[in-house]
Amino acid sequence: MGNRNREKLLALFSKKQGEFLSGQQIADLLGLSRTAVWKHMENLRQEGFEIEAVRNKGYRLIKNSETFSKDSILIDLHTKFIGQKLYFYDEVDSTQFVAHQKISEGAKSGTVIVSELQTGGKGRLARVWDSQSGKGIWMSLILKPQIEIAKVPQFTFIASLAVVSAIEEVTNLEPQIKWPNDIYIGKQKVCGVLTEMRSEAGLVEAIIIGIGINVNQTEFPEEIKEKATSLAILAGHSFPRAKLLQEILRQLEKYYQVFMDDGFSPIKLLWEAKAIPFREKIIVSTMQGSIEGTAEGISDEGVLLVRDDSGVRHQIYSADIDFFSEN
Ligand code: BTN
Repeated sequence: MGNRNREKLLALFSKKQGEFLSGQQIADLLGLSRTAVWKHMENLRQEGFEIEAVRNKGYRLIKNSETFSKDSILIDLHTKFIGQKLYFYDEVDSTQFVAHQKISEGAKSGTVIVSELQTGGKGRLARVWDSQSGKGIWMSLILKPQIEIAKVPQFTFIASLAVVSAIEEVTNLEPQIKWPNDIYIGKQKVCGVLTEMRSEAGLVEAIIIGIGINVNQTEFPEEIKEKATSLAILAGHSFPRAKLLQEILRQLEKYYQVFMDDGFSPIKLLWEAKAIPFREKIIVSTMQGSIEGTAEGISDEGVLLVRDDSGVRHQIYSADIDFFSEN
């Protein structure tokens, strides 16, 4: 099927939201023969779209298919800008690297990069992020807000709040955020967020929010299998990744708008309601070393404030936190 006709057809179905469209209506709108329309339907079915055909009524798209593809994500996304430009790959090194390239080529704010497999998935603190094929959501979002560099870490809060809200909505599981941006269910991690920035002459050029969610994995590599889990393991069944990703993009757009309209305060309040509360004594591990101390909360900028055992106050931008009572 020609790409343009296929996009037009999917857009038409999306607009009609589950209503029937007659073969003749579709043929007229796309300027195709009835036979060509029938062939397009067959192609979409082969891709996994569930299309009902009823004599004298026509065709309708029953629901988003379980396939994970550009079309299945875009079809009923209904966001204003986040994800409306979407690049979908079978394999990349890291969606973060691709996002950097796209920014250099002039990508617009809201552009999203998704890949089925990452061969060099990056975690925070220069770690490797296990990105098996066909199981998770590996995505990067490019945003270009006009803000000061000091506010960039706040985007991590927007992202983790959006992901937690989307997981709750789609799965009924109860995720919680562990500062700054790990998403846990129970004692195991299901998602990580990596926020990067591009700046020029002291101004933010773009923010890249990388999100990795363990959705349908049933097993993990030895090194992480104690700490990591997936939504499917916890719920006992798999989830349609396109549906979850759509919800994440909608929630990201919602909270981005809240932030742009009203600033960080409402985000911080909502985030705190979904976060695992700090316990008194914590161990903070950064790339520079570790600090033992007491968490004094999060600043209005989203920075973690820790007083170490000798009384010195530290501002922590990126680290792993362990609670003393866990050890
Ligand atoms: C963490 O260490 O918890 C953050 C993990 C972030 C992983 C995601 S997967 C999509 C995007 N591309 C990457 O290479 N990393 C992020």
